Amino acid sequence: MTRRAFITGITGQDGSYLSELLLAQGYEVHGSVRRTSTLERSRLAHLYADPTLYNQRLFLHYADLDDPTTLRRVLNAVQPQELYHLAGQSHVGLSFEIPETTCEFTAMGTLRLLEILRDLPEPPRFFHATSSEIFGRPTASPQTEKTPLAPINPYGCAKAFATQMVRVYRASHDLFAVNGILYNHESPRRGENFVTRKICRAAAAIKLGLQEELALGDTSAQRDWGHARDYVRGMWLALNQGPPDDYVFATGQLHSVQQVIETAFAAVSLDWQHHVKFDRHFLRPAEPLHLVGDASKARAVLGWSPTTSFQELIQEMTQAELDQLSQGERRGTARPEAR
Ligand code: GDD
Repeated sequence: MTRRAFITGITGQDGSYLSELLLAQGYEVHGSVRRTSTLERSRLAHLYADPTLYNQRLFLHYADLDDPTTLRRVLNAVQPQELYHLAGQSHVGLSFEIPETTCEFTAMGTLRLLEILRDLPEPPRFFHATSSEIFGRPTASPQTEKTPLAPINPYGCAKAFATQMVRVYRASHDLFAVNGILYNHESPRRGENFVTRKICRAAAAIKLGLQEELALGDTSAQRDWGHARDYVRGMWLALNQGPPDDYVFATGQLHSVQQVIETAFAAVSLDWQHHVKFDRHFLRPAEPLHLVGDASKARAVLGWSPTTSFQELIQEMTQAELDQLSQGERRGTARPEAR
């Protein structure tokens, strides 16, 4: 029997990689899109344009996290066996500017989904993409599934609420509900306002003479960065290989923003010191510290481990920007990175 999966946030970086993985495994894939989404230029465009997939094994539905009736209706109609909840306002810096919207989508949106699942006659297995930001500035490193929640920004608070709700619904309503505690995961499909993509794109644009400098905030900040393709494999494994539980997905390696800069500029043979400048506009009111994950449980229970090194990741991202920008340049449509 063909398995059906439903993805909220299907047009995002993770949604597109997960769709590819599930389609390759023979799944029928459904996803919710907001009425305002522009599909033609999204990360799904290549799947959307394939007539053997779109409306054959890949289906998009208008539904929104702030309009639960639309979600309930679609989920009742589709009856998926697996639901991957990836949607939400995911930019930490922005969450200081729009805390209410962040909580509305990321916290309340998840609760609304859980309430809908609770009422379904056969609730799907549920994967919640949560974040290392729930740990804030933890006293212990690396963090595990048992590390106490102590968020320090609105986004982290919203994710902590949603994470705890998933635990409550798993324990109290017998849902097969999983929290994937995801550390930073990047790729050429990363949103342009996240720091790795911003840096890789700028390095390529400067190399091609399309941009002169790159303005950044705190370059001493450190993160545990992996490749998004590895993390969506973890999501699938979490719903198919183990018991409903919480799992940390991380590389266990810390690198600084400065190391991203040096790797990306080296990949295009440029001296970063001639191009990178500080702009306090990109500083955040609070920075998490020592967010590095221990994925031992995912390794032991799910057989998951990351396959892409930090160097490979940043080099792949920079090369992808170079390819994309030079194609645009040849067509006369190249544009530099937005700040
Ligand atoms: N975005 C951005 N832009 N970040 C900058 C900049 C800049 O110009 N300059 C320095 N940084 C620093 C940020 O202050 C932060 O310390 C670090 O770069 C990484 O920022 P982001 O790439 O925006 O990611 P994030 O770590 O805040 O959040 C991402 O990872 C989380 C998982 O840990 C997001 O994907 C979250 O949704 C995710 O949950």
